[in-house]
Amino acid sequence: MTTPFRYEDGEMRVGGVPLARLAAEHGTPLYVYHRPTIGARLEEVRRAFGAHPTTICYSVKANSNLRLLKWLAGHGVGFDVVSGGEIARTAACGVTPDRVVFAGVGKTRAELEAGVEAGLWMINVESVDEALVLAEIAERADAPVRISLRINPDVDPGTHRHIATGRGADKFGIAPSEYRTLLPWLAGHPALRVVGLHMHLGSQITDPAPYGRGFDVLLDCGREARAAGLEPRWMNAGGGFGIAYDGGDAPPPAAYAAELLPRAREFGAELLLELGRYLVGPAGCLLTEVQYRKTRGGRELVIADAGMTDLLRPALYEAVHRILPVLEADPADFRPTDVAGPICESTDFLGRERPLPPLGRGDLLAILDAGAYGMSMASHYNTHPRPAEVWVDEAGAVEVIRRRETIADLLAVELESLSAG
Ligand code: LLP
Repeated sequence: MTTPFRYEDGEMRVGGVPLARLAAEHGTPLYVYHRPTIGARLEEVRRAFGAHPTTICYSVKANSNLRLLKWLAGHGVGFDVVSGGEIARTAACGVTPDRVVFAGVGKTRAELEAGVEAGLWMINVESVDEALVLAEIAERADAPVRISLRINPDVDPGTHRHIATGRGADKFGIAPSEYRTLLPWLAGHPALRVVGLHMHLGSQITDPAPYGRGFDVLLDCGREARAAGLEPRWMNAGGGFGIAYDGGDAPPPAAYAAELLPRAREFGAELLLELGRYLVGPAGCLLTEVQYRKTRGGRELVIADAGMTDLLRPALYEAVHRILPVLEADPADFRPTDVAGPICESTDFLGRERPLPPLGRGDLLAILDAGAYGMSMASHYNTHPRPAEVWVDEAGAVEVIRRRETIADLLAVELESLSAG
């Protein structure tokens, strides 16, 4: 499935709406999402897993906009949350707790208490210590707490080292050996009920094979659980389905299903998926306006009004997002151009040596595939308000789904203490 951001009549549009119009009406930097693309990608995943009982839990961290969460809830997905804050987001959208899975390697006691209190569907436990804390909380609860154990299967998913999570040395999950020591205790525990097992190999994985290898480890653990008298009904394959940031082809969901479905069927488990990027990544772009241009080392350099505070991925992971001019240009005029942001850091780049036409003040650039881990990782560094977010719906109508922050918003929390002092 290709990007919904396309040139029509000489300018880039999404769902028929010119990006230049959105920039004029809503300002820049601006996150723009195409809702039908999210719906289409959700359907594609559903089709791939077909009739097998499979629950898609949207991974809130990928893009935690409340309107988006509410819309997804209306389309029947569950949610994967990793903090008290994300639990609150789902609650604010009217999501019932029985559709929420609580993951995260470092949940605080207070967050675990909030999860138990809310009666979430299940809590993914990531360490022996966490199991002990949760047991204390669960003993005081009215009903047994449903848990899923996140196993670290020691599988290399072949992704960027910063976003691999299921290798033996990664901080996530319970090692199979720790799991074995935990099993007899869990089997006899009156307040904790093991309802599933979980893995999450990493993110932006473009090879389905590691899912099969990881699931083999998970199912071995599942067989041991059954032998101990437990009934792990849900096998959670985590998230991580990759997208094609270069505009090429990434494996379709069916390729991951081909690894997971036969194994789940053989074991007799229902499937859970925690997808973020796959659903929302290609549906979003970051729209930015060129402020200044200069040459550096013989190369074109433009300074845009969006930077690492708006889209951190290039600076943090050396991630490469396509950067395209909003006005269609003749590729014959393209020259290697560095695109930097306004932040006082040398790492504040959106892209290096990108083929772009000559650019000047006021020109608009679209940074593609920014729907996931864009706005959700934005910060206030340099006291920059975060961008506004708009989406284009199925009818081509535009709606602001998060207003632009003001400087007053940013100062408000601290002004309280100023007036107290
Ligand atoms: N489940 C768990 C337990 C996770 O930790 C994550 C992502 C997901 C599901 C969703 O993964 P996805 O389907 O979106 O790949 N900021 C990085 C990605 C970090 C992912 C963190 N965990 C980036 O911008 O590439």
